[in-house]
Amino acid sequence: MWSEHVSTGDELSISGIKATDLSREFGTPAFIMDEDDFRLRAKNWDSALKNAFGNDAGVVYYAAKAFICTEVARWIKDIGIGIDVCTGGELAVALAGAIDPSTIQVHGNNKSLAEIDRAVSIGVGSIVIDSLFEIERVAAAAAKYGKIQKVLLRLTPGIEAHTHEFIATAHEDVKFGFSIASGAAWSAIEAVQKYPSIELRGLHAHIGSQILDTDSFELSAERLISLLGKYRDAFGLELPELDLGGGYGIHYLPGDEELEPHVVLNALAIAVAANCELYKLKIPRVSIEPGRAIVGPSMFTLYEVGTIKDVRLENGDNRRYISVDGGMSENIRPALYSAEYTAVLANRKSSAALTSSRLVGKHCETGDILIREIDLAGDIAPGDLLATPATGAYGRSMASNYNHVPRPPVVAVKNGKARIIVRRETEADLLGLDI
Ligand code: LLP
Repeated sequence: MWSEHVSTGDELSISGIKATDLSREFGTPAFIMDEDDFRLRAKNWDSALKNAFGNDAGVVYYAAKAFICTEVARWIKDIGIGIDVCTGGELAVALAGAIDPSTIQVHGNNKSLAEIDRAVSIGVGSIVIDSLFEIERVAAAAAKYGKIQKVLLRLTPGIEAHTHEFIATAHEDVKFGFSIASGAAWSAIEAVQKYPSIELRGLHAHIGSQILDTDSFELSAERLISLLGKYRDAFGLELPELDLGGGYGIHYLPGDEELEPHVVLNALAIAVAANCELYKLKIPRVSIEPGRAIVGPSMFTLYEVGTIKDVRLENGDNRRYISVDGGMSENIRPALYSAEYTAVLANRKSSAALTSSRLVGKHCETGDILIREIDLAGDIAPGDLLATPATGAYGRSMASNYNHVPRPPVVAVKNGKARIIVRRETEADLLGLDI
């Protein structure tokens, strides 16, 4: 939780650096990242996987889509975990960070031929196949390079994970994976057998994101293992790997829960062991792909307040609109998923009475709302700084240039020092694309 790493005295500070100093040096809006927190979270998932599964522990693949840049790729390499990429762009960043290709797992429901070719040619550890077309395409690329490419099959285990519809990925009506229930998964398993240039290592499922209970993960493991049993019965061989994806939920609002690594992974280890026992299977190497749970809580966004407006509502109440210098371009999650965040006054303490407020951005759109309803100090004024915690995952990585707003920088803080790891975009960057 960010409050463990960010202290609030008279003003908010992180690793001893005050919010006002950060804003003076780096401007606002800015993503501020606690490097130690990121590293600690990544290591915690790694050690929790090893503790829960012992010798059967596979790899923690950090899901790059949550947030990646070259420096973070270097940290991943240094920490010694793997990385999951789902586009050629993410792969390029991983390689720029000198990540060993054998620790990269490649995802994507529509990998281009060029993406497949590059992944195979540089020797990525595994490719997770998402359609029948891809079986053939990956096999052809591997044959071209005279390689045997390790692959997993992405399956949809038919689980309604308790999360927003747009971030649930494993019920039946989705574009991802092969459905177990419809028989598509089994057809894919059979299809893979025809190609000597690909080696099926195991099965994969990612059931959704921001999931806070362990049940859906256990059910997913159960369904995948039943298929591992069917595979052994049909082919007389056991698949050695199982990848249960990411999706572990984090704490956004005060009082929210977070799925702790040891809680979910110990529960998974029990479910995996019980189901393998049921089918008399050797326990496979179990891998996971957390993104949000590593980077989400390690960043906050620092904004400056620009304007304030009191609006009279139809019922006679007042709503205070507090506008900051960013908005839906660097945090689309409230608009897209009704995601909720909190905000704190960052440059000073206030004892003013709280006022029901709405935190909005600067975009030309009514739905440019960061927080629909929040009680904030009634004396907040233009020039004050506000911080929204837990914006590390799918914040900067989903940022856009809507209204030609340059995307904010990412500033990493460690041992009392702050440094830019992604610089702020400039107008020149934006104009640089125009012909
Ligand atoms: N593995 C696979 C195959 C995935 O598709 C995803 C996320 C992850 C791992 C990482 O999930 P995480 O641990 O970060 O929840 N933009 C949405 C989230 C979309 C996630 C898509 N896949 C959001 O802002 O909530």
